[in-house]
Amino acid sequence: RVVVIGDASVGKTSILNQLIDNNFHEHEQSTVGANYQLYVEEIDGIKIEIQIWDTAGQEKFRSLGPIYYRNSNGAIIMFDMTSRKSFEDLDEWIIHLYLRKNKSTNSNSNKSSNGTVIFIVGNKADLTENFQVSMNEVNEWAKQMDYKVMFTSAKTGKNVTQLFHNLSVELLKSRTHNYQKSKNDS
Ligand code: GTP
Ligand code: MG
Repeated sequence: RVVVIGDASVGKTSILNQLIDNNFHEHEQSTVGANYQLYVEEIDGIKIEIQIWDTAGQEKFRSLGPIYYRNSNGAIIMFDMTSRKSFEDLDEWIIHLYLRKNKSTNSNSNKSSNGTVIFIVGNKADLTENFQVSMNEVNEWAKQMDYKVMFTSAKTGKNVTQLFHNLSVELLKSRTHNYQKSKNDS
């Protein structure tokens, strides 16, 4: 399970429309609550099935978040390259994610709090003229925090399948790692 989180209108729903239907709507409706999509990819003969939860960024739905963070193995934390505010809000989303996850973890918490695969995604990469954050700055910030970063465009489709492929690879890696770890622990 993977959650897609971030401020309202950064393009979370649009990225999934592009991934699943090769579709882009200039006037996508703001998400209410959350929706999920199933994404399947085969890597090295291993079938990976990801339940992707597209959550609502609007403030009034924030309290629902933890329901979807529970038991998630990965998170795409998205911002809009043309909105400095959405970039600055990343910290808050990350804190939100970690706090809630830890609160909701139970006895088999082994992999859930530490093993979360996080991708920071700067969307609307097609609108270069209107960037309010430079790719450099984003890369520097993410490097310090040790997060993976990608720049996408739901409009042109740039890096959309690449993002989910990279995510699948990381999820597969973390799963193998956790499997090895639990074998060694026992
Ligand atoms: P909430 O559901 O409210 O949290 O918003 P969201 O993050 O799902 O954003 P959504 O996908 O609804 O996109 C918001 C607006 O931005 C829509 O009008 C989209 O057409 C537009 N948009 C999304 N992605 C891109 C992109 O990559 N490039 C451009 N130019 N516009 C985009
Ligand atoms: Mg949405």
